Amino acid sequence: MIRLRGIEKHYRLAKVSVPALRGVNLDVEKGEFLSVMGPSGSGKSTLMNIIGCLDQPTKGHYFLSGEDVATKKEDQLADIRNRRVGFVFQTYNLLGRLTALENVELPLIYRGVGTAARRQQALTALDAVGLSHRVRHKPQELSGGQQQRCAIARALAAEPSIILADEPTGNLDSRAGTEIMALFQQLHEQRITIMVVTHDENVAAHSGRIIRLLDGLVVEDAPVVGRVYAQDSLALLESEEGHKAHA
Ligand SMILES: Nc1ncnc2c1ncn2[C@@H]1O[C@H](COP(=O)(O)OP(=O)(O)OP(=O)(O)O)[C@@H](O)[C@H]1O
Ligand SMILES: [Mg+2]
Repeated sequence: MIRLRGIEKHYRLAKVSVPALRGVNLDVEKGEFLSVMGPSGSGKSTLMNIIGCLDQPTKGHYFLSGEDVATKKEDQLADIRNRRVGFVFQTYNLLGRLTALENVELPLIYRGVGTAARRQQALTALDAVGLSHRVRHKPQELSGGQQQRCAIARALAAEPSIILADEPTGNLDSRAGTEIMALFQQLHEQRITIMVVTHDENVAAHSGRIIRLLDGLVVEDAPVVGRVYAQDSLALLESEEGHKAHA
């Protein structure tokens, strides 16, 4: 589904060119759940931006379901992005003046979905992330984990084929982070392709495959052995809390 060949990205800063990606080859099949790891500055976000059609490579080919994205113009790129990609960011990027429901509806407005259908799709997405009881809340009236789940609902509402998440658990405590990974694992079961950037090996252990970047190159690409299931971790936490409450 995703095929990168010789992808390079050089940022221009004043007169110098900063190489961020230096020839990345990568194949991701539909329905894969992949983690992207690597030190700060290794090119993870740059790679995600290119895969998500937010940015174009300087060199190389990017095929998304057979289409050569690297040759598209900006408006065509925006169209592919709106139809196919859902983004989730470390800082949630919700609009503070809008309710959870309105935040989730926003990308549907851009896609020209009518009022009633839009509301229905947004409510369905909020339900899928367990936020049905918080749809009228504004972001600052939600916990960090709830804000991130709202951001995931926003990404889901447009029914993307790929979810790209850049450090989605970076601002969350371990329990809220585990809840987010449980959600991603659930989406993965529905065959949505998911790519998660993380610095945390425990987070990556929830996925099926880990690629590691170093200085703009993929230096390792391996399946996860002994995958962690977030639902199991959450059940364990709950039973421990139950024991404490009875002690
Ligand atoms: N807009 C930009 N202009 C110039 N250089 C940039 C720009 N964005 C990123 N870079 C450079 O490209 C390289 C890769 O950056 P990138 O943001 O992809 O790294 P990263 O792996 O996501 O790091 P982090 O873990 O800190 O988020 C870095 O050297 C960075 O300084
Ligand atoms: Mg980054």
